Amino acid sequence: MVCKSRMAIKKKTSLKEPWPVALPEARWLTKFRSQILRWYKTHARDLPWRASRDPYRIWVSEIMLQQTQVATVHDYFLRFLQEFPTVADLAAAKEDRVLRLWEGLGYYRRSRQMHKAAQLIVENYSGVFPQDFQLVNELPGIGRYTAGAITSIAFDDKQPILEANTIRVHARLLAYPDEPTKAAGQRLLWHFAELVLPKKESGRFNQALMELGSQVCTPTNPKCSECPVMGLCPTFAGQLQAEIPKKKKRMKFEDRNEVAVVIQKKNKFLVRKCRPDERWAGLWDFPRFDLTGIANGERLSEIENKANQQTGTTIQLGDKITTIKHGVTKYRITLDVYRVQSVAGRLKKTDAGELCWVNAQQLEALPLSTTGRKIERLLAQP
Ligand code: ADE
Repeated sequence: MVCKSRMAIKKKTSLKEPWPVALPEARWLTKFRSQILRWYKTHARDLPWRASRDPYRIWVSEIMLQQTQVATVHDYFLRFLQEFPTVADLAAAKEDRVLRLWEGLGYYRRSRQMHKAAQLIVENYSGVFPQDFQLVNELPGIGRYTAGAITSIAFDDKQPILEANTIRVHARLLAYPDEPTKAAGQRLLWHFAELVLPKKESGRFNQALMELGSQVCTPTNPKCSECPVMGLCPTFAGQLQAEIPKKKKRMKFEDRNEVAVVIQKKNKFLVRKCRPDERWAGLWDFPRFDLTGIANGERLSEIENKANQQTGTTIQLGDKITTIKHGVTKYRITLDVYRVQSVAGRLKKTDAGELCWVNAQQLEALPLSTTGRKIERLLAQP
């Protein structure tokens, strides 16, 4: 009894949610759906993952497209599908190979989780991609957006989506004045994403929204004169395109100084697999340490000490090969790369992760960190 009345109350309050902006009426929704679907018929880009309704291909594309531009994903997608044409092929692959094909796309957790999910699909569903939204949503690395995208595009299930493009489109369609990625904004926009969905063709509709966001309703200088729903957009009417969506506060960057060492013995190089709790988890890298705040006079001995702690070897530092500047999350990193002059001692097992001596060919085949690959390319030069 208690449970029932609690449920009733919950339902009532969510129906009566005091939305911070007025939601559009039925006539607006009908016009919006038909105008955007008509526009998509003639404006959809010919992208490789749109050639079929295979949920596996759609899944791969959606995971790759998270935080990554279509133009970058294009070739990665084709190479990945060529090597792993089915869920079973992906499930059977070695993790190093999956990561090697992902190398350069960033956010490597995505590919490790996809690999794990492929193995679960083989184990639990005999390799057949599940159709049910809840089952898809339970797979590793698949959240509400990705589950909605896969099930709507592959099976025309009536599921809403909300990702970077649609957040911007919806924020403008509602003239939502606050930050749309905060909790209140997300609640409103998910609700609107559900409200705006047509009964049929959800997959095409969702793709049309994303296409509009990426091709027309862009973050800066949106091409409103080319927009099929310009006449329905309150942000256009109020000329608020530069203010909506409201921008997030800028991240504060921190400077870091790091060092990588190329430890070479005959024709082999020492590399280390990054631990699961580290940046570039699962990928390989040259031994590397943080030297932020270390005084100049102490750098040399500090590098040699840290190399010893991480690998067990005793090194004598040689010349600096290069300096690489790069950014990872909030860190602006200056990475100094040194060769070693001499190396002695055996590798020891440390909690710094797996160590391995590899030749140039093996180094080329391993999945490396972004800077690891830059160093590898430098070493491979004649
Ligand atoms: N971004 C994320 N998913 C997409 C899709 N299916 N088409 C275009 N852009 C996207």
